[in-house]
Amino acid sequence: MILKIVKYPDPVLEKPGEPVSEFNDELRKFIADMFETMYASKGIGLAAQQVGVAKRVTVIDLSCGEDPNEKRVFVNPEIIERAGKLYEEEGCLSFPEIREKVVRAAHVKVRAQDEFGKWFEVDGEELLSRCLQHEIDHLDGVLFIFRISALKRDLALRKIRKMIRAGEWD
Ligand code: NI
Repeated sequence: MILKIVKYPDPVLEKPGEPVSEFNDELRKFIADMFETMYASKGIGLAAQQVGVAKRVTVIDLSCGEDPNEKRVFVNPEIIERAGKLYEEEGCLSFPEIREKVVRAAHVKVRAQDEFGKWFEVDGEELLSRCLQHEIDHLDGVLFIFRISALKRDLALRKIRKMIRAGEWD
């Protein structure tokens, strides 16, 4: 089932996610719906807050649905190591048409649970590293436009307000 993607400034996007404690069929159905929703919007990452649910669940697929081996589920993820620095442009399904350069660690190690509750660790470099940091930020209620300069943020927010007024933000 394709879920509705929540756009900024919906308050759920800034709500820290509750940890998941039950790994049941309901959770697995929700995760399947998140993948379907992300693919329908041609995204490579989606956090639960972006479909209106403040829980610590995110899905990532850098192949955008082309390669089944690229499907990644992270429940209750934590960044346990970070190193180096990247400064690249990011977008977000909750901010259509907004792209901004964000400083991120070049490498992260993440510990998380899968959809059955099993713990695992993954090392992310380059795009996967950036995507993990962007999505885990979402789970903490942190949006990428709050990781850029105040000046650039004001310009982006002005553009968003203009699009909302013109009815182009939904
Ligand atoms: Ni995002």
